[in-house]
Amino acid sequence: MSDTFNAWSVGRYGPPETLAPVVRPLPVPGANEVLIRIHASAVSRADGMMRAGVPRFARLFLGLRRPRQDLVGTCLSGEVVAAGPDATRFAVGDQVFGEAGLNFGANASHICLNEDGVLMKKPEALSHEEAAVMCDGPLTSFNFLREVAQMRAGDAVLILGASGSLGTAAVQIASAAGAQVTGTCSERNAGLVASLGAGRVIDYTKEDFAQAGQRYDIVYDTIGVSSFKATERALTEKGRYVCPVLSIGLLLSMLRTSVLGGRKAKFSATGMLKPEKLRSMLAELLVMVDDRTLAPVMDRTYPLDHLIEAHQYVETGHKSGNVVVV
Ligand SMILES: NC(=O)c1ccc[n+]([C@@H]2O[C@H](COP(=O)([O-])OP(=O)(O)OC[C@H]3O[C@@H](n4cnc5c(N)ncnc54)[C@H](OP(=O)(O)O)[C@@H]3O)[C@@H](O)[C@H]2O)c1
Repeated sequence: MSDTFNAWSVGRYGPPETLAPVVRPLPVPGANEVLIRIHASAVSRADGMMRAGVPRFARLFLGLRRPRQDLVGTCLSGEVVAAGPDATRFAVGDQVFGEAGLNFGANASHICLNEDGVLMKKPEALSHEEAAVMCDGPLTSFNFLREVAQMRAGDAVLILGASGSLGTAAVQIASAAGAQVTGTCSERNAGLVASLGAGRVIDYTKEDFAQAGQRYDIVYDTIGVSSFKATERALTEKGRYVCPVLSIGLLLSMLRTSVLGGRKAKFSATGMLKPEKLRSMLAELLVMVDDRTLAPVMDRTYPLDHLIEAHQYVETGHKSGNVVVV
């Protein structure tokens, strides 16, 4: 094994071109750590926002003047190639997937992770590319629909941005749970969204969902294109507007609706939940993979040394499902 590894660094907040390839000494796993040779890692919309340092208040967690951690990438899949003396959950040769979270460094050839973090055995049913994105769209949408919105069978669920990473996972999760799913996307993705389980597809370029007179128990705004205020009339009396994209408007709506009965606005930072909680949600998602009710939707795959191009594509805001580097 070489004594160095390849990774990507971001020394200051900025556009995709700010990313720079680096070579670093290969880390030796600590007592409870495993060293993973990465086969695939996700390039998500969230990765792009963290690289750019937006929204600005996110810099409170990421680093005020420049990124606190200079390596990039959060979600990965690969093989354990070395294990610390106290590691018991994983052994050399195990195929694993998970997330580095705010420690970053997943867009790389190798990474050391604590085995008690968000790390799971990769099932054979998932390729490394598919497993690499499980902690982005599938995990986030599971958290938002099942935990934050408390979705039940029979609920009418509207998914805004149904063709994105979070959206394609959300349509599958809601449909498998027995919800009546409506998704918004453009015409070119309508077939995809319907094939994932949406009973109704609204073309956001032609129709405003809020004007259609339909009521929903849950509006899951996966990309933050609407607001609690704009969706209020489309929510049932106890309806929930849940959105993973934090804004001042969403915060104010959450504050206002938390003290009143009736409709609610809600947010969660999935990556900030305890690793045990995230692992138990991933375990439920793996049951869905096994049952063939969930399969990550893949868009483009780039070589690791084309990370800048991958970020540029994700930044268009028009990917369908997920993008990875291998
Ligand atoms: N809070 C959390 O725990 C958490 C965790 C992970 C991610 N996030 C955040 O979640 C957000 C979602 O990311 P994502 O990766 O799912 O997005 P994405 O994959 O980049 O979304 C792209 C899709 O959105 C569609 N779209 C664009 N404008 C639309 C509109 N006005 N209405 C409906 N669909 C539209 C596009 O379709 P067309 O190409 O057809 O237009 C495209 O297929 C990001 O902001 C990320 O930071 C939050």
